Amino acid sequence: MDTSNQNDFFVIKALEDGVNVIGLTRGTDTRFHHSEKLDKHEVMIAQFTEHTSAVKVRGRAVIQTRHGEISTN
Ligand code: TRP
Repeated sequence: MDTSNQNDFFVIKALEDGVNVIGLTRGTDTRFHHSEKLDKHEVMIAQFTEHTSAVKVRGRAVIQTRHGEISTN
């Protein structure tokens, strides 16, 4: 399996209290496996991994990836 995409780091910066960063499982079964709550000004640095292929962000945040920066609004 090509795992070169699994080491990418991304940064999530919370712009309000209670931002949720939810990790979804890699593979045929796509489900939530982890939820992290960030308060305003908190930053999370994470990777895509063998276990995590997608991430859902709920709440106001700025997300930086190698593909660019996006803010939820
Ligand atoms: N144990 C998870 C993993 O190795 C931890 C993790 C990595 C994670 N990236 C994440 C959790 C992104 C939530 C969101 O895959």
